[in-house]
Amino acid sequence: MRSGSTADHWQEVYSSNSPDEVGWYQMEHEVTINLVKASGIPLEGVIIDIGSGASTLLDELLKAGFSNIIAADICDEGMAHSRERLGDSVRWLVDDVTEPTKLLEIGTVDLWHDRAVLHFFTSQAEREGYVSTLKTILKVGGHAVIETFSEHGAPQCSGLDLQRYDEMMIRELLGDDFEMLETVRHVHLNPRGGERPYVSTLLKRLS
Ligand SMILES: C[S@@+](CC[C@H](N)C(=O)[O-])C[C@H]1O[C@@H](n2cnc3c(N)ncnc32)[C@H](O)[C@@H]1O
Repeated sequence: MRSGSTADHWQEVYSSNSPDEVGWYQMEHEVTINLVKASGIPLEGVIIDIGSGASTLLDELLKAGFSNIIAADICDEGMAHSRERLGDSVRWLVDDVTEPTKLLEIGTVDLWHDRAVLHFFTSQAEREGYVSTLKTILKVGGHAVIETFSEHGAPQCSGLDLQRYDEMMIRELLGDDFEMLETVRHVHLNPRGGERPYVSTLLKRLS
């Protein structure tokens, strides 16, 4: 899917569902917060949440004391819900992670977080774009927390085909510049019913 139609798809999703109705909605972010803390990032380190949508992870990161957070998404519709709650305590950015423009202007970040975004990139070109953006903005010595549907997960989400991952596939996608530090298998309960097995990973950029 190209940028315009991808943004239209997500705008439609967020304008026709409340944030807690979408299948990926979760109230608690324990797995993510534990991986972020395990990275050892200082509270003033820069965290970017890629494909942030209407996630309440931002609230949890602020509550944990992190003060330098950027939320980025291809459409603003989901982030508008978060912005209403959080205002200027987070920086907001609308951009396509696979074909970025504004993302390349933010400088470097200490931690890259993505939950349920990478797995939508089913073409090689999209995945290469994603990895290139990550490698452009993540500092050497920084960390990536990447969370996708596992290989046992549903083949589609939000009506879109997925590329599902296991730990090794994520590690191979990022390449030898990265070391896998931690992996967690867990199951998200879709508010509409059904179990969604995830794999969550913490990687460190070595070079
Ligand atoms: C399944 S939702 C997950 C949202 C959030 N991370 C969460 O866990 O609640 C996928 C999100 O990725 C965003 N997205 C999809 N394609 C994108 C792209 N190419 N660049 C940036 N964001 C994208 C969508 O707008 C949507 O908010």
